[in-house]
Amino acid sequence: MILDKYRLDGKVALITGGSRGIGQAVALGFAEVGADVAIASRKLPDLEEVAKEISALGRHSLAIAAHAGHKEELDDLVKKTIDEFGRIDILVNNAGTNPVFGPLVDIEERAWDALMNLNLKGYYLLSQAVAKLMMKQGGGSIINMASAAGTKPFPGTGAYSVSKAGVIMLTQVLATELGKHNIRVNAIAPGVIKTKMSTHLWSTPEIAQKFIEHTALGYIGQPEDIVGVAVLLASDASSYISGQTIAVDGGGLPFGR
Ligand SMILES: NC(=O)c1ccc[n+]([C@@H]2O[C@H](COP(=O)([O-])OP(=O)(O)OC[C@H]3O[C@@H](n4cnc5c(N)ncnc54)[C@H](OP(=O)(O)O)[C@@H]3O)[C@@H](O)[C@H]2O)c1
Repeated sequence: MILDKYRLDGKVALITGGSRGIGQAVALGFAEVGADVAIASRKLPDLEEVAKEISALGRHSLAIAAHAGHKEELDDLVKKTIDEFGRIDILVNNAGTNPVFGPLVDIEERAWDALMNLNLKGYYLLSQAVAKLMMKQGGGSIINMASAAGTKPFPGTGAYSVSKAGVIMLTQVLATELGKHNIRVNAIAPGVIKTKMSTHLWSTPEIAQKFIEHTALGYIGQPEDIVGVAVLLASDASSYISGQTIAVDGGGLPFGR
Protein backbone atom coordinates (compact mmCIF):
# COMPACT_ATOMS: atom_id res chain seq x y z
CA MET A 1 0.00 0.00 0.00
CA ILE A 2 1.43 3.39 -0.98
CA LEU A 3 0.39 5.07 2.28
CA ASP A 4 2.40 2.47 4.24
CA LYS A 5 5.56 3.65 2.47
CA TYR A 6 5.18 7.07 4.12
CA ARG A 7 5.23 5.55 7.61
CA LEU A 8 8.37 5.69 9.75
CA ASP A 9 7.54 2.89 12.20
CA GLY A 10 10.67 1.44 13.80
CA LYS A 11 12.90 4.22 12.48
CA VAL A 12 14.97 6.59 14.61
CA ALA A 13 15.32 10.26 13.64
CA LEU A 14 17.80 12.85 14.92
CA ILE A 15 16.75 16.47 14.35
CA THR A 16 18.87 19.53 15.17
CA GLY A 17 17.04 22.76 15.99
CA GLY A 18 14.15 20.62 17.20
CA SER A 19 13.03 22.89 20.03
CA ARG A 20 10.82 25.23 17.99
CA GLY A 21 9.80 26.37 14.52
CA ILE A 22 10.39 24.06 11.56
CA GLY A 23 12.42 21.51 13.56
CA GLN A 24 9.68 21.13 16.16
CA ALA A 25 6.99 20.69 13.48
CA VAL A 26 9.08 18.07 11.67
CA ALA A 27 9.83 16.22 14.94
CA LEU A 28 6.13 15.99 15.79
CA GLY A 29 5.26 15.01 12.19
CA PHE A 30 7.81 12.18 12.25
CA ALA A 31 6.46 10.97 15.60
CA GLU A 32 2.90 11.03 14.21
CA VAL A 33 3.91 8.62 11.45
CA GLY A 34 5.75 6.27 13.77
CA ALA A 35 9.37 7.39 14.34
CA ASP A 36 11.23 7.63 17.63
CA VAL A 37 12.86 11.07 17.71
CA ALA A 38 15.95 12.63 19.28
CA ILE A 39 15.95 16.43 19.21
CA ALA A 40 18.84 18.80 19.82
CA SER A 41 19.39 22.54 20.31
CA ARG A 42 21.21 24.68 22.86
CA LYS A 43 18.44 25.00 25.46
CA LEU A 44 17.44 21.81 27.24
CA PRO A 45 14.22 23.10 28.91
CA ASP A 46 12.70 24.04 25.51
CA LEU A 47 13.67 20.64 24.09
CA GLU A 48 12.14 18.83 27.04
CA GLU A 49 8.77 20.46 26.31
CA VAL A 50 8.87 19.14 22.71
CA ALA A 51 10.09 15.73 23.93
CA LYS A 52 6.96 15.56 26.12
CA GLU A 53 4.78 16.21 23.06
CA ILE A 54 6.59 13.41 21.16
CA SER A 55 6.07 11.03 24.08
CA ALA A 56 2.37 11.98 24.18
CA LEU A 57 2.15 10.65 20.61
CA GLY A 58 3.34 7.27 21.93
CA ARG A 59 6.93 7.49 20.64
CA HIS A 60 10.27 7.34 22.36
CA SER A 61 11.92 10.78 22.59
CA LEU A 62 15.25 12.16 23.74
CA ALA A 63 16.24 15.80 24.33
CA ILE A 64 19.94 16.64 24.03
CA ALA A 65 21.58 20.04 24.52
CA ALA A 66 24.26 20.62 21.86
CA HIS A 67 25.65 23.54 19.88
CA ALA A 68 25.29 22.43 16.26
CA GLY A 69 28.45 24.24 15.18
CA HIS A 70 30.81 22.62 17.72
CA LYS A 71 32.37 19.30 16.69
CA GLU A 72 32.80 17.91 20.22
CA GLU A 73 29.16 18.62 21.06
CA LEU A 74 27.99 17.07 17.78
CA ASP A 75 30.05 13.92 18.46
CA ASP A 76 28.52 13.76 21.94
CA LEU A 77 25.05 14.24 20.40
CA VAL A 78 25.56 11.25 18.11
CA LYS A 79 26.92 9.14 20.97
CA LYS A 80 23.96 9.94 23.25
CA THR A 81 21.48 9.15 20.47
CA ILE A 82 23.15 5.81 19.76
CA ASP A 83 23.39 4.96 23.48
CA GLU A 84 19.63 5.51 23.77
CA PHE A 85 18.28 4.14 20.46
CA GLY A 86 21.10 1.98 19.01
CA ARG A 87 20.78 3.47 15.51
CA ILE A 88 19.99 6.59 13.45
CA ASP A 89 17.90 6.08 10.30
CA ILE A 90 17.06 9.73 9.57
CA LEU A 91 19.16 12.83 10.17
CA VAL A 92 17.63 16.29 9.77
CA ASN A 93 20.26 19.04 9.76
CA ASN A 94 17.97 21.93 10.59
CA ALA A 95 19.54 24.23 13.21
CA GLY A 96 20.27 27.55 11.56
CA THR A 97 20.72 31.24 12.14
CA ASN A 98 20.55 34.54 10.32
CA PRO A 99 21.95 37.11 12.74
CA VAL A 100 22.32 40.02 10.30
CA PHE A 101 20.19 41.77 7.72
CA GLY A 102 21.71 44.17 5.23
CA PRO A 103 24.11 44.37 2.32
CA LEU A 104 26.80 41.70 2.11
CA VAL A 105 29.48 44.37 1.64
CA ASP A 106 28.72 45.70 5.15
CA ILE A 107 28.66 42.42 7.06
CA GLU A 108 31.32 41.93 9.74
CA GLU A 109 33.68 38.98 9.56
CA ARG A 110 32.48 37.76 12.98
CA ALA A 111 28.87 37.50 11.77
CA TRP A 112 29.97 35.75 8.53
CA ASP A 113 31.96 33.19 10.55
CA ALA A 114 29.11 32.49 13.00
CA LEU A 115 26.68 32.03 10.14
CA MET A 116 28.90 29.72 8.09
CA ASN A 117 29.91 27.75 11.17
CA LEU A 118 26.35 26.84 12.15
CA ASN A 119 24.54 26.86 8.79
CA LEU A 120 27.14 25.03 6.72
CA LYS A 121 30.07 23.57 8.68
CA GLY A 122 27.77 22.08 11.32
CA TYR A 123 25.75 20.27 8.62
CA TYR A 124 28.95 18.81 7.14
CA LEU A 125 30.28 17.70 10.55
CA LEU A 126 27.08 16.00 11.67
CA SER A 127 26.45 14.41 8.25
CA GLN A 128 29.99 13.01 8.32
CA ALA A 129 29.53 11.45 11.78
CA VAL A 130 26.04 10.05 11.09
CA ALA A 131 26.82 8.84 7.54
CA LYS A 132 29.56 6.57 8.95
CA LEU A 133 26.97 4.95 11.23
CA MET A 134 24.42 4.70 8.43
CA MET A 135 27.00 2.93 6.26
CA LYS A 136 27.34 0.22 8.94
CA GLN A 137 23.54 0.03 9.31
CA GLY A 138 23.02 -0.48 5.57
CA GLY A 139 21.46 2.88 4.70
CA GLY A 140 19.56 5.95 5.82
CA SER A 141 18.15 9.33 4.83
CA ILE A 142 19.79 12.71 5.45
CA ILE A 143 17.70 15.85 5.04
CA ASN A 144 19.32 19.29 5.04
CA MET A 145 17.27 22.42 5.70
CA ALA A 146 18.43 24.77 2.95
CA SER A 147 16.39 27.83 1.93
CA ALA A 148 14.83 29.43 -1.11
CA ALA A 149 17.43 32.12 -0.33
CA GLY A 150 20.08 29.56 -1.36
CA THR A 151 18.75 29.43 -4.92
CA LYS A 152 18.02 33.14 -5.46
CA PRO A 153 19.16 36.17 -3.46
CA PHE A 154 16.62 37.52 -0.96
CA PRO A 155 16.93 41.22 -0.16
CA GLY A 156 19.16 41.81 2.87
CA THR A 157 20.12 38.17 3.49
CA GLY A 158 23.28 37.90 1.38
CA ALA A 159 25.59 35.94 3.69
CA TYR A 160 22.73 33.64 4.69
CA SER A 161 22.01 33.01 0.99
CA VAL A 162 25.64 32.03 0.44
CA SER A 163 25.54 29.59 3.38
CA LYS A 164 22.34 27.97 2.09
CA ALA A 165 23.72 27.71 -1.47
CA GLY A 166 26.57 25.80 0.21
CA VAL A 167 24.03 23.49 1.87
CA ILE A 168 22.50 22.72 -1.53
CA MET A 169 25.91 21.75 -2.98
CA LEU A 170 26.79 19.81 0.20
CA THR A 171 23.57 17.85 -0.39
CA GLN A 172 24.53 17.01 -3.97
CA VAL A 173 28.11 16.03 -3.06
CA LEU A 174 27.03 13.78 -0.18
CA ALA A 175 24.27 12.21 -2.30
CA THR A 176 26.84 11.39 -4.97
CA GLU A 177 29.30 9.88 -2.48
CA LEU A 178 26.82 8.01 -0.28
CA GLY A 179 24.39 6.55 -2.81
CA LYS A 180 26.38 3.32 -3.02
CA HIS A 181 25.82 2.88 0.73
CA ASN A 182 22.04 3.19 0.29
CA ILE A 183 22.11 6.61 1.98
CA ARG A 184 19.91 9.23 0.33
CA VAL A 185 20.68 12.91 0.87
CA ASN A 186 18.17 15.64 0.00
CA ALA A 187 17.42 19.22 0.97
CA ILE A 188 14.31 21.28 1.60
CA ALA A 189 14.31 24.93 0.54
CA PRO A 190 11.59 26.78 2.48
CA GLY A 191 10.47 30.26 1.52
CA VAL A 192 9.60 32.65 4.36
CA ILE A 193 8.06 30.60 7.16
CA LYS A 194 6.63 32.23 10.28
CA THR A 195 9.17 31.33 12.99
CA LYS A 196 11.34 33.13 15.53
CA MET A 197 14.31 33.24 13.14
CA SER A 198 12.38 35.05 10.42
CA THR A 199 10.54 37.47 12.77
CA HIS A 200 12.13 40.52 11.16
CA LEU A 201 10.83 39.44 7.72
CA TRP A 202 7.20 38.69 8.60
CA SER A 203 6.65 41.28 11.34
CA THR A 204 7.92 44.32 9.41
CA PRO A 205 4.88 45.18 7.28
CA GLU A 206 6.73 46.58 4.24
CA ILE A 207 9.14 43.62 4.14
CA ALA A 208 6.36 41.06 4.67
CA GLN A 209 4.36 42.68 1.87
CA LYS A 210 7.33 42.38 -0.49
CA PHE A 211 7.64 38.66 0.24
CA ILE A 212 3.90 38.11 -0.16
CA GLU A 213 4.01 39.84 -3.55
CA HIS A 214 6.84 37.50 -4.57
CA THR A 215 4.92 34.36 -3.55
CA ALA A 216 2.52 32.86 -6.09
CA LEU A 217 0.16 31.62 -3.36
CA GLY A 218 0.14 35.09 -1.76
CA TYR A 219 0.85 34.31 1.88
CA ILE A 220 3.67 33.48 4.30
CA GLY A 221 4.05 29.82 5.28
CA GLN A 222 3.83 28.08 8.65
CA PRO A 223 6.25 25.43 10.06
CA GLU A 224 3.61 22.74 9.43
CA ASP A 225 3.87 23.47 5.67
CA ILE A 226 7.32 21.83 5.68
CA VAL A 227 6.27 18.55 7.33
CA GLY A 228 4.78 16.74 4.31
CA VAL A 229 7.96 17.00 2.25
CA ALA A 230 10.11 16.09 5.27
CA VAL A 231 8.09 12.89 5.82
CA LEU A 232 8.33 12.09 2.10
CA LEU A 233 12.13 12.49 2.08
CA ALA A 234 12.59 10.55 5.33
CA SER A 235 10.43 7.63 4.22
CA ASP A 236 10.57 4.79 1.71
CA ALA A 237 8.05 6.74 -0.40
CA SER A 238 11.09 8.63 -1.76
CA SER A 239 13.35 5.57 -2.15
CA TYR A 240 14.55 6.71 -5.62
CA ILE A 241 15.05 10.40 -4.78
CA SER A 242 18.53 11.65 -3.84
CA GLY A 243 20.60 14.79 -4.32
CA GLN A 244 17.49 16.95 -4.75
CA THR A 245 16.49 20.27 -3.22
CA ILE A 246 12.73 20.62 -2.97
CA ALA A 247 11.35 24.15 -2.70
CA VAL A 248 8.51 24.62 -0.22
CA ASP A 249 7.95 28.30 -0.79
CA GLY A 250 4.39 28.85 -1.92
CA GLY A 251 5.63 29.38 -5.46
CA GLY A 252 8.44 31.84 -4.77
CA LEU A 253 9.20 34.33 -7.50
CA PRO A 254 12.60 35.97 -8.17
CA PHE A 255 13.41 39.33 -6.60
CA GLY A 256 14.98 42.19 -8.54
CA ARG A 257 17.83 44.35 -7.28
N1 LIG B 1 11.79 30.55 8.92
C1 LIG B 1 12.10 30.74 7.66
O1 LIG B 1 11.57 31.64 6.97
C2 LIG B 1 13.11 29.84 7.00
C3 LIG B 1 13.20 29.88 5.61
C4 LIG B 1 14.13 29.07 4.98
C5 LIG B 1 14.93 28.23 5.71
N2 LIG B 1 14.84 28.20 7.05
C6 LIG B 1 15.74 27.31 7.80
O2 LIG B 1 15.00 26.44 8.62
C7 LIG B 1 15.82 26.04 9.73
C8 LIG B 1 15.01 26.19 11.01
O3 LIG B 1 14.75 27.58 11.21
P1 LIG B 1 13.41 28.11 11.91
O4 LIG B 1 12.85 29.12 11.00
O5 LIG B 1 12.56 26.98 12.37
O6 LIG B 1 14.05 28.92 13.13
P2 LIG B 1 13.70 28.97 14.68
O7 LIG B 1 12.26 28.79 14.93
O8 LIG B 1 14.37 30.19 15.19
O9 LIG B 1 14.44 27.65 15.24
C9 LIG B 1 15.83 27.53 15.17
C10 LIG B 1 16.22 26.26 15.91
O10 LIG B 1 17.65 26.11 15.81
C11 LIG B 1 18.18 26.05 17.15
N3 LIG B 1 19.51 26.66 17.14
C12 LIG B 1 19.83 27.95 16.87
N4 LIG B 1 21.16 28.12 17.00
C13 LIG B 1 21.67 26.92 17.35
C14 LIG B 1 22.96 26.44 17.64
N5 LIG B 1 24.03 27.25 17.60
N6 LIG B 1 23.12 25.14 17.97
C15 LIG B 1 22.06 24.31 18.03
N7 LIG B 1 20.81 24.69 17.78
C16 LIG B 1 20.62 25.98 17.45
C17 LIG B 1 17.18 26.82 18.01
O11 LIG B 1 17.27 26.47 19.38
P3 LIG B 1 18.23 27.23 20.43
O12 LIG B 1 18.21 28.70 20.08
O13 LIG B 1 17.67 26.92 21.75
O14 LIG B 1 19.59 26.61 20.25
C18 LIG B 1 15.88 26.32 17.39
O15 LIG B 1 15.58 25.02 17.85
C19 LIG B 1 17.09 26.91 9.66
O16 LIG B 1 18.15 26.17 9.09
C20 LIG B 1 16.67 28.04 8.75
O17 LIG B 1 17.79 28.61 8.09
C21 LIG B 1 13.95 28.99 7.73
